[in-house]
Amino acid sequence: MTVSVVLVTVVWALREPAPSRLRTDETAIGALTPEKIPLVTGDESLVDIFTRPGCPVCHMIPGIPGATGQVGPPLVLGITGEQRLKDPAYRGQAKTVHEYIVESVLEPQRFVVRGYPEKTMPTWYGSKLSALALEKMASYLERQTGGSSAP
Ligand code: HEC
Repeated sequence: MTVSVVLVTVVWALREPAPSRLRTDETAIGALTPEKIPLVTGDESLVDIFTRPGCPVCHMIPGIPGATGQVGPPLVLGITGEQRLKDPAYRGQAKTVHEYIVESVLEPQRFVVRGYPEKTMPTWYGSKLSALALEKMASYLERQTGGSSAP
C-alpha cells in the first residue's frame, strides 16, 4: 500500500517539467506588450536588436544566444524565404526575401506560415523598431540557413 502511494507520487513528480515549461513561455509572451518594449534604434548590437523586442521568446534564430523559441517558425529565411514567396497562398507585396522579412515583422497577419498560429506574433513592432533596425534584421535573417553561425 505505502509502496504504491510512493510510486504514484514519484510518477506524478516526473510528469511536472513539461507543464511548468509551458507556463514559463506563456509568462514570457504575456510580458511582451508595447509599453514594456524599448524603442530599438538599430545602433544596438545585433544580439540586442533581436533580444530587446523579444523575438527569441517565439523564434529559433541561428547565432542569437537563447533564441530557442518554438511558438513561431525557425528564422532560417535563407532556406524558407524563397518557399514563402512561391507559396500559392502568399498574398503579400514582397518581391525579395529581404522585403518578405520586413513585411512579416510589420504585418505578420498578411501571410501566416502553415502549421503556426495566427494572431500570435505582435502586430505593433512598426512602432518599436526603426527602419535601420528592420534593415539589419532582414539582412541578417535572409542569410541564415540553420546551425549556429556567429552574428
Ligand atoms: C509571441 C510570439 C512571437 C514573437 C514575440 C515574434 N514572433 Fe515572429 N512569428 C510568430 C509566429 C506564430 C509566426 C508564424 C505565423 C505568422 O506567419 O504570422 C511568426 C512569423 C515570423 C516570420 C515569418 C517566418 C517565415 O518562416 O516565413 C518572421 C520573419 C518573424 N516572425 C520575425 C520575427 C521577429 C524579427 C521578431 C522580433 C522583432 C518576432 N518575429 C517576434 C510569433 C512571434
